[in-house]
Amino acid sequence: MPKPFYITTAIDYTNGSPHIGHAYEKLLADVIARYHRLKGEEVYFLTGVDQHGQKVQQSAEKAGVAPQEFVDGITAQFLALWEKLEVKYDIWAATTEPLHKKCVQGMLQRLYDEGQIYKDKQDGYYSIRQEQFLTDKERGPNGDFGPEWGQVEHRTEENYYFRLAQHKDWLLAYLRSHPDCVTPGFRQTELINAVEKPSGDLCISRPKSRLSWGIELPFDPDYVNFVWFDALTNYISFIGYDPTISSFILQPSSFQQKWPALHILGKDILIPAHGIYWPIMLHALGFPDEQMPKFLVHGWWNMGGAKMSKSLGNVVDANPLIDKYGAEALRYYLMADIATGKDSDFSENRLVSRFNAELANSLGNLLHRTLSMTQRYRTGKLSERGTGTIPLFSTYQSEMESSVHAALERVNSYITGWNQEIDVKKPWALAKEESAARELDALLYRLAEGLRIIAILVSPVLPKAAHGIFDQLNWKPELAGKEERFSLAEAEWGILPDGHVVGKPIPLFPRIEAVES
Ligand code: ME8
Ligand code: MG
Repeated sequence: MPKPFYITTAIDYTNGSPHIGHAYEKLLADVIARYHRLKGEEVYFLTGVDQHGQKVQQSAEKAGVAPQEFVDGITAQFLALWEKLEVKYDIWAATTEPLHKKCVQGMLQRLYDEGQIYKDKQDGYYSIRQEQFLTDKERGPNGDFGPEWGQVEHRTEENYYFRLAQHKDWLLAYLRSHPDCVTPGFRQTELINAVEKPSGDLCISRPKSRLSWGIELPFDPDYVNFVWFDALTNYISFIGYDPTISSFILQPSSFQQKWPALHILGKDILIPAHGIYWPIMLHALGFPDEQMPKFLVHGWWNMGGAKMSKSLGNVVDANPLIDKYGAEALRYYLMADIATGKDSDFSENRLVSRFNAELANSLGNLLHRTLSMTQRYRTGKLSERGTGTIPLFSTYQSEMESSVHAALERVNSYITGWNQEIDVKKPWALAKEESAARELDALLYRLAEGLRIIAILVSPVLPKAAHGIFDQLNWKPELAGKEERFSLAEAEWGILPDGHVVGKPIPLFPRIEAVES
């Protein structure tokens, strides 16, 4: 049995509504997950919501509701958006689930028993606004703490610490000997540089007096866990990790079968969270080197070169865009208009112009021309089944594993090529000459077969449109609407049989006419 493919996204904070950045990350994971299903693999795609913490506690207080009620409301917004966007996940990780909390407490207890967690006193300057102790790194050039920290006071506080520093040498050696751990490669280099810098242990608690909306430490009820053991461990807690078992090979087989993961995350949470804390947590929990996860790190969607932020009021909500243009238009834009790993500027005009150029005019037009000519000249019936090639098909395959934008460009070049072939060969002229009958048959077959293959290749990004193409080709109607209708193994020439009758054309991507700005 081949190993299933296990893919995760970051769990989204529930202190505010979902935005286009969240949508992008979910779609990137969804497309890669769908691509692996297309290859016939068993896929587990985990996503979810990060529901604890200071910010949530504050937002709930402001809204005048209990924290659970507050996060339930925000969580419902995320769930509704993933449904609307056709994000098809298998496992939903919401961190207030009892199963997760129990697993987190189990891990903390074991690490505490093994001496990996200890209590210590912190004595220093504390920013009330940012809820954190400050070090000399936070001092400005004049030696003072800047205005961004708000009121700063001296404080003494006891907390629990995880022995991070002890494992830094292991992490460095691991990363140096596993250059494919982080994609893109320059992010791995940044990570290694960060690990090389000296740093201390990791504070993992907050006194309950200060933060109550969190998972209680199993060995001290006066404290709750602070972020890391709650927000990172969902990747294992929700697939059945047993925290009481320290030997990896004795873990439940259903867990071992799925793990390790491919983690998809944004550039802001690689260092230190996913790139340093998480591998060290796993290592301390007894995960061997060959069971370390991999990381695919994406860039950010910005607005006019600037970060989207609530305070600038430039945060883009996916919902009105879906209502206006449809889920597939947004899926296509977010996958095509950013190179994985890099940043991109969000632009509604570009969404519209790409849709019109690449979907309406190019793919939609190819489908429409092919079907209407096959109807007109051959009453819909194909013959002269021939052979053909899909240029650089193996490159498309590797691009779909991470660089989805490049795979889409490749598919677009196939579509452009077939549209050009129509312009050059002029089927309308061939139809007038008796002697060109077989040439016309062969051309019509090749176009229909090309469209069948295109539908398969775009199905991870545009599942509805792919079904639309198959419906109009009158191909596999018995699997209408089902993901199993598409298989990568069938992306090869000559599968439509001689004598197959295609359907009538219906506009697949009606042009978007007016753009309001
Ligand atoms: O970081 N463009 O949650 P989050 C692209 N709960 N991606 C973006 C983005 C943008 N403009 N803004 C955010 C968290 N993201 C934590 C993770 S582990 C400590 C728990 C991405 O809601 C971001 O990079 O702030 C991250 O991968 C994901 O959205 C969730 O961000
Ligand atoms: Mg964040």
